[in-house]
Amino acid sequence: MLMRATSGVDPTLFGRVPLTTLAAVDIVLRPLQDGDFEYVIGRLDEWWGGRSMTGSLPRLFFDHFPTTSRIAADGATGATVGFIIGFLSQGDPSVAYIHFVGVDPAARGHEVGRTLYEWFSETAHAAGCSTVKCLTSTVNTGSVAFHRAMGFTVTEAKDYDGPGQHRMLFSRSL
Ligand SMILES: CC(C)(COP(=O)(O)OP(=O)(O)OC[C@H]1O[C@@H](n2cnc3c(N)ncnc32)[C@H](O)[C@@H]1OP(=O)(O)O)[C@@H](O)C(=O)NCCC(=O)NCCS
Repeated sequence: MLMRATSGVDPTLFGRVPLTTLAAVDIVLRPLQDGDFEYVIGRLDEWWGGRSMTGSLPRLFFDHFPTTSRIAADGATGATVGFIIGFLSQGDPSVAYIHFVGVDPAARGHEVGRTLYEWFSETAHAAGCSTVKCLTSTVNTGSVAFHRAMGFTVTEAKDYDGPGQHRMLFSRSL
């Protein structure tokens, strides 16, 4: 886990994080750079199990939220294995919001998602936030399980994003 693995390291900087469950492999959380949008958007639907997701992640999120977004890269090869796109709420300064998190299916189950979330939480806490929020569609049972494992409370909200657009709302205190 990031908090354990990077003890003493400024979480807003690069963090080299051993993946305890995958021998001799580690990841680096690095800032976004040119080419990341193209890489992620080209794989987004596949990573989401074939769902059409690209319309919800336009380039603006990569351009305008650099301090609260990161790429998880394989420490040995530099290959992208995951990403997180988040921001600090403009309406409620106590809230930090995660818009998207995704991990390459080949890298799942090795704490990449957890590491990205712990980095985001530490960053949000350092910025003065006390709550992390995010949401997912009701069909995304894997995301619900991940968020429960990460300590989020889960609330179903009917018609949250419009008629028939039900969402699962996640919240965790920092
Ligand atoms: C959800 C996702 C980011 C998790 O990434 P990951 O790197 O595999 O997750 P981790 O290995 O860090 O798992 C952290 C915890 O969540 C649990 N978890 C993760 N995915 C799970 C799943 N599908 N079902 C049940 N539990 C799951 C793990 O068991 C672990 O719990 P533990 O620490 O108690 O053992 C990844 O599956 C993904 O990219 N999914 C598709 C995109 C998506 O739905 N994103 C979220 C909505 S925006």
